[in-house]
Amino acid sequence: MRVCVAMTGASGSLYALRLVQALVGAGVGVDVIVSKAAQLVFATETPVSLPGKPQGQAQVLREYVNANSEQLRVFAREDWMAPWASGSGQPGPVVVCPCSTGTLSAIATGASNNLIERAADVALKERRQLILVPREAPYSEIHLQNMLNLTRMGAVILPASPGFYHQPQSIEDLIDFVVARILNQLNIDHQLMPAWGKDHPSTEDPS
Ligand SMILES: Cc1cc2nc3c(=O)[nH]c(=O)nc-3n(C[C@H](O)[C@H](O)[C@H](O)COP(=O)(O)O)c2cc1C
Repeated sequence: MRVCVAMTGASGSLYALRLVQALVGAGVGVDVIVSKAAQLVFATETPVSLPGKPQGQAQVLREYVNANSEQLRVFAREDWMAPWASGSGQPGPVVVCPCSTGTLSAIATGASNNLIERAADVALKERRQLILVPREAPYSEIHLQNMLNLTRMGAVILPASPGFYHQPQSIEDLIDFVVARILNQLNIDHQLMPAWGKDHPSTEDPS
């Protein structure tokens, strides 16, 4: 399986980095697409500075998550020949993490003006998994309408809003909360957070 991880210009680049790291660690191939605004957010929020060209982005990301060129590929924003640009190409899930409200809107209307929007559009038309991780506060009526429309179309709206019941001790714990939810959606085993109810007395081995 390969997963498309599209990174857009909402706050929360660290979620994207951790997600890619977890996917590669789980032996899943990752295809990354980075929006122009995401590059700016990366530079603002993380120690990772992503160059403009996909080859440079691939080099930086592979180094960060310790992946080789098969495990992690990067496609340009306007690479219409990329497998994710057509329903007859790559059949895997698409995760937009983080998802800006701008990209959310473009996906909701089928704009397909870049490879991120097109990959999401293809996932919707092919009835494949599309997971959107929006971050904004507060949400406007436009944002909420777009999310409602997209959830009705089959996308999963998975907001970057970590819970606190696992008693996070660090920013990494908060990030892992959200990334664990994405991995759960993708049916990928992980150790980022214990599953709810795992230590419940009724789930203990009776022997
Ligand atoms: C540092 C920074 C943080 C931002 N945070 C958000 C955010 O949390 N949510 C959001 O929807 N847009 C946010 N934006 C604005 C988007 O980057 C902007 O709307 C951009 O056009 C989105 O383009 P894209 O969807 O192609 O990435 C932020 C921009 C910057 C520079």
